Amino acid sequence: MSNTVLIGAQWGDEGKGKVVDVLTEDADLVIRMQGGNNAGHTVWVGKKKYVLHLIPSGILHPNKVCVIGNGVVMDPVHLVHELDGLKKLRIKVNKRLYISENAHLVMPYHRELDALRETSRGKGKIGTTKRGIGPTYMDKASRQGIRLGDLMQPDRFANLLKDRLRVNNAILKANGVKPLSYQRILEDYLQAAKRLKPFVTNTLPLIHDAMGSGKRMLFEGAQGTFLDIDHGTYPYVTSSSTTAGGACTGSGVPPNRVSRVVGVMKAYTTRVGEGPFPTEDDGLGDLFHGMGREFGATTGRARRCGWLDMVMIRHASMVNGFDDLSVTNLDGLDGLDEIKVCVAYRFKGKRLEYMPASHETLEACQPIYESFAGWKRDTSSAQSWKELPLKARAYLKALSQMAGCRLSSVSVGPDRSQIIHLS
Ligand code: GDP
Ligand code: IMO
Ligand code: MG
Repeated sequence: MSNTVLIGAQWGDEGKGKVVDVLTEDADLVIRMQGGNNAGHTVWVGKKKYVLHLIPSGILHPNKVCVIGNGVVMDPVHLVHELDGLKKLRIKVNKRLYISENAHLVMPYHRELDALRETSRGKGKIGTTKRGIGPTYMDKASRQGIRLGDLMQPDRFANLLKDRLRVNNAILKANGVKPLSYQRILEDYLQAAKRLKPFVTNTLPLIHDAMGSGKRMLFEGAQGTFLDIDHGTYPYVTSSSTTAGGACTGSGVPPNRVSRVVGVMKAYTTRVGEGPFPTEDDGLGDLFHGMGREFGATTGRARRCGWLDMVMIRHASMVNGFDDLSVTNLDGLDGLDEIKVCVAYRFKGKRLEYMPASHETLEACQPIYESFAGWKRDTSSAQSWKELPLKARAYLKALSQMAGCRLSSVSVGPDRSQIIHLS
């Protein structure tokens, strides 16, 4: 049995798409289990750039099967656009993509409500991607959601839409937003339904039959540990379980069938949206943005940047049970004289080894740094551990030790080929 769960160890955008693409070589099925098109996973193959939002990154490997699990929330119109994009790039998806009929639908009123709530929060906004993710998971939890299986039955969908739109249009109207057209949504969604029909199925037996015949699963996490609805920096989080446990609930694969959990982390830290970020450093952000790095793959927003925070990585390792870590973007640090790593926090004069539970306390924490000498050499063409500068190796060894976790790979550039596998 070799079933691997891949999870972002920070606030998302760790390079999960790239690492999934590399690990797909050793997998038969690649499964998305949570989140929606708030995710943006970038994969470079030669000179071609692919940004995937809902479809697992494994789709770029011919002959691999991809599954969108029950825990994902999906905007069917967006998914059709994503399929069109793949078609243009000559990626074949027939008999390679399956979508759970239990996945909940993101509806146009969810996006409106997302925007409305952000506006009404004023300064306390979350900085969401405005893709309607929070309101969709809210409807799921309050048992008012509409699922992909419902969309496959036009009459049933029409009735559900009528009912939900009545309630949600009243909310929109009360808040000064133009009500949405029933006819327009019905047409758009039923058109998308026709296109999606061949992919929609009960994914549970599909996954279990594949496991039964010895096929290997790779679970592609979206977002990151600190955006998790339970374990993240609440309320500055997304609305799904982004940590390893989410792989089970979001797919129907039981915990005892997971054989490995890989954490993906950048060699520094980034965050998009609001919320605490103890090691944030605007100077580092300016440097990365000046190099054209660290702009969001979904919204294009400049990502907030800071030093690596090992208190976070240790916390992420506890929550997810990382067997190993994949470090990405090491090359981002190539030009620096000094590299800082946060090893603990100071709060009201006391040293904290663990992340505090409340976001207000985290906001008030000062990072305690350890300094590392920069290697000041280009690492982007390194193909082996030995080809990395000694100081880069020292940095990586130290962070593996601090995390209490072995490193399985180090990525030194966006391309598929720019990765060093460590045994
Ligand atoms: P994801 O959401 O975790 O899949 O990550 P994103 O795709 O949103 O953001 C990661 C960004 O870093 C993308 O632009 C990737 O192409 C890029 N990337 C991934 N690994 C590396 C690396 O090792 N070096 C460099 N320079 N870029 C990388
Ligand atoms: P990937 O999979 C980075 C952030 C948003 C916001 C918060 C809530 O590419 O790593 P939401 O729209 O989910 O309600 O927004 O979560 N966020 C992400 N940040 N990468 C992502 O996905 C994200 N998905 C959501 O910026 O702070
Ligand atoms: Mg991303």
